[in-house]
Amino acid sequence: MIIYKAEDYKDMSRKAANILSAQVIMKPNCVLGLATGSSPLGTYKQLIEWYNKGDIDFSHVTTINLDEYKGLSPENEQSYRFFMNTNFFDHINIDKKRTFVPDGLEMDSEIATKNYNEIIKNSGGVDLQLLGLGHNGHIGFNEPGEQFERETHCVNLAQTTIEANRRFFESEDQVPKQAYTMGIKSIMQAKKIVLIVSGEDKAEILDRALNGPITPELPASILQLHNDVIVVADKAALSKWS
Ligand code: F6R
Repeated sequence: MIIYKAEDYKDMSRKAANILSAQVIMKPNCVLGLATGSSPLGTYKQLIEWYNKGDIDFSHVTTINLDEYKGLSPENEQSYRFFMNTNFFDHINIDKKRTFVPDGLEMDSEIATKNYNEIIKNSGGVDLQLLGLGHNGHIGFNEPGEQFERETHCVNLAQTTIEANRRFFESEDQVPKQAYTMGIKSIMQAKKIVLIVSGEDKAEILDRALNGPITPELPASILQLHNDVIVVADKAALSKWS
């Protein structure tokens, strides 16, 4: 495991963008596993900037996102498809037909998850998976539980996750209670994983995830078993590093 200590969020974003950019330059038709949330926003911003300078070409890249709220349409401003389009895809030369996010409008969980597993399989495998870290140690929407879920599945979001996401919605009632997420096995099958973490509020969970016991009670702890993980975290997030 490589740990890059960044000064702050901006530095973390630039360092993570450098790794993604290197991946795309080395393998122009690579498959990127992507995340939403506040952690990767700066990374996407930096990549857009370099794209505008002519340094990166996304025309052959495929992307597979980790998760989507069940019940939200792509046009819903809180959906992860909307987030990805507005914060990244609309600003680069990626072919949108090669950008995948679970279908939030498919209310039959079995169909939605089966279709997404097919997409992951047909992509030939994720070359680089970008991950953020939830305050409760979740990755994707794999919440703490009794076992590691393997493939794409429908989850009941933890109350802490609903509260953390509340800031994006008008009221807590509007925060969806379920989501589709890529499973732990699919995440672990990525050739390379880049975990980005910022802020003191994540310091303890980051330390426990990477130095504590491997347990489904802290889903990110499974990353200790992957042989190519790069953690890019700022000083604040590494302040409890043991
Ligand atoms: C989002 C996702 C989540 C977030 C995590 C951290 O696609 O998969 O696991 O990465 O909740 O969220 P932020 O970055 O907003 O702190």
